[in-house]
Amino acid sequence: MKILYLNPAGNVGGAERVLIDTLASLRQSHPEWHLEVVAAAQGALTQEVEALGVKARMIAFPRSLAMLGDAAAGGPAGNGLGQLALAARFVSALPGAMVYTRRLGEAIKESAPDLIHTNGLKMHVLGARAAPTQIPMIWHVHDFVSVRPLMSRLLRVHARRCANAIAVSCSVAADVRSVLGAKVPITTVHNAIDLQRFTALGARLDLDQLAGLPLADIGIIRVGLVATMARWKGHEVFLRAIAELPHGLFLRAYVIGGPQYETGGSETSVPELQRLTTSLGLQDRVGFTGFIADVPAALRALDIVVHASTEPEPFGLVIAEAMACGRAVIVSAAGGADEMVTDGLDALTYRPGDTAALARLIAMLASDSALRQKLGDGALLSASRSFGRERLAREIAPVYARALERGH
Ligand code: GLC
Repeated sequence: MKILYLNPAGNVGGAERVLIDTLASLRQSHPEWHLEVVAAAQGALTQEVEALGVKARMIAFPRSLAMLGDAAAGGPAGNGLGQLALAARFVSALPGAMVYTRRLGEAIKESAPDLIHTNGLKMHVLGARAAPTQIPMIWHVHDFVSVRPLMSRLLRVHARRCANAIAVSCSVAADVRSVLGAKVPITTVHNAIDLQRFTALGARLDLDQLAGLPLADIGIIRVGLVATMARWKGHEVFLRAIAELPHGLFLRAYVIGGPQYETGGSETSVPELQRLTTSLGLQDRVGFTGFIADVPAALRALDIVVHASTEPEPFGLVIAEAMACGRAVIVSAAGGADEMVTDGLDALTYRPGDTAALARLIAMLASDSALRQKLGDGALLSASRSFGRERLAREIAPVYARALERGH
C-alpha cells in the first residue's frame, strides 16, 4: 500500500509533530507500506521525515497562498482581519492556488498513491482539488473549523472528497461534524507523542543562559509557557498572572517559543511581549528563550509548566509532552486540553483567560513541592497509559482500511 501525506507547512509545529509520530508509528507496525510526504514549505519537516526512512519532497506554496489564513477573521486569532480584507486575500491567492493545484496534481499522478492523508486545512482543500477522484482522502483535522469563515465554507464544498476525517479530540470531532454534516465519517484519534524522547529523566537546558538572565540561586522555582507565538496561546494571560503573584515567591518565569507560521496577523512577537513584561515591571523575573528545538530538555528544566490558551485548544500537545516529562502542569481547561487531564490527579485546571485563578495555582504549586511531586507522578502515569505513539498506527490503520474498502 502506498500513502501520500500532504502538509501545508515546512516547519515543525504541533500538527507536523503528530504527522512525524504517525509516520514513525506506521513504519513500526506496517514496515511494508510505502509512505511519502509532500511539504508546502522549506523547514525541518522534510529532514525529520527522511530520518524515519520516509521519502519527502517540497512543493512550495506561492507566497499569496502561504499568507492566506482566516484564523484572524473571527477564528482563534481574533477579529483583526475583516471579511473584506480576507476576501481580497482569497481572491489574490486564487491564481497561485490554481497553479499549485496543477503542480500538486502532477506530483500525485507521479506518486500514484492508494490513499492520500492531508494534514492541514489548506491541504484538505488543495488535495481535494488536485487528486483524481478514485483516490480516497483522509483529512486529519487539528483545528476547530466552525470559527473559520473561509475554511469552513471551503471544507463543506469539498466534503464529498473526504472519505474519513480524523479529529485530534472529541471537541474537534464535534466541531467538524457541525461543519461537514452527517455524511463524512469522523474518527477521533487523540494525539500521541514519542515517550522515548519525552521522559522525566534526561538533559535539562540552562534556561537562564538561553534567556540572557543572570544565573539564579539554587532552589528557585521555574515556571514556563512553551508555545508557538499564536495570539490565542495566552502569553499575555501568563505574564499578567506572573505580575499578580506575591512578591515573596522565589520564582522565575520563562516564555519559550518563537514564530512559526507564515499566515499574516495571527502571531504575537517576542518584542511585543517584552514590552508588556517591562510595563508590568517583570523584566527581572521573566526570560524569553526564543524557539527551542529540544523541547523535552526545556520542559525538564521547568518545575511548573503552564498552558494558557485563551481559546479552546484543539488538543494541546505540550500538555501531553510536559506530563510525560513528569512535570506539574497547569491547564487552561477547554476543548481537547480538557479531555486529556483529570484536575487534581495529573494536572491542575482553570478557566481559560482567568488570570487570577492562574496566579493562585502558580503560587500554590510554587510553594508546595509535595504537591508538585504528586501531580508530576500522576502525570507520568497518565502519559504512559494514554500518549504512547504506537496507539496512532493502531487507531489510524483501520481508518485507512475502511476508506479503501469503501473506495472499491
Ligand atoms: C494544532 C492545535 C493544537 C494541537 C496540534 C496537534 O496546532 O492547535 O491544539 O495540539 O495541532 O494536533
